[in-house]
Amino acid sequence: MPTKEELIAKLNEALTLEHQARIQYMTHAQHISGPNAEPIIERLEELAADEKDHEEKFRELIAAYLGGTPTMKMHEPHPATTLDAILNTNLEDEKSAIDLYMEIYDMIMQMRDELKYSWFQCIHKIREIIADENEHVMELNTIKG
Ligand SMILES: [Fe+2]
Ligand SMILES: [Fe+2]
Repeated sequence: MPTKEELIAKLNEALTLEHQARIQYMTHAQHISGPNAEPIIERLEELAADEKDHEEKFRELIAAYLGGTPTMKMHEPHPATTLDAILNTNLEDEKSAIDLYMEIYDMIMQMRDELKYSWFQCIHKIREIIADENEHVMELNTIKG
């Protein structure tokens, strides 16, 4: 059975991915140009706003519900300047995030007794975040066409 410390460490790893994702989407949005740029820029900025919401959820879980310290570190970002490269790299990153978050979900599922009154919030938030990331994959695929 995973320990609370192991869960906090995994959630902090997740938080570094969220920091990366937000900065990456905001930066990539600056490289989109041309006659059809506007809706794509808006969509990337919406994705960044979702990642900010995820950051907040992870910070709250780590600090308020589990008594840990949220990291300020950021996972190594993936620069890209063409639309194709931007979409592909973010699709890969979204999928890696989902893999990690599914791992976290499985950990939390095993920790019901240990987490007691924090358990429901943990499971609820991670499910919401995973659902959002699945939506992000779908949205990036829609832009790709
Ligand atoms: Fe996210
Ligand atoms: Fe995402």
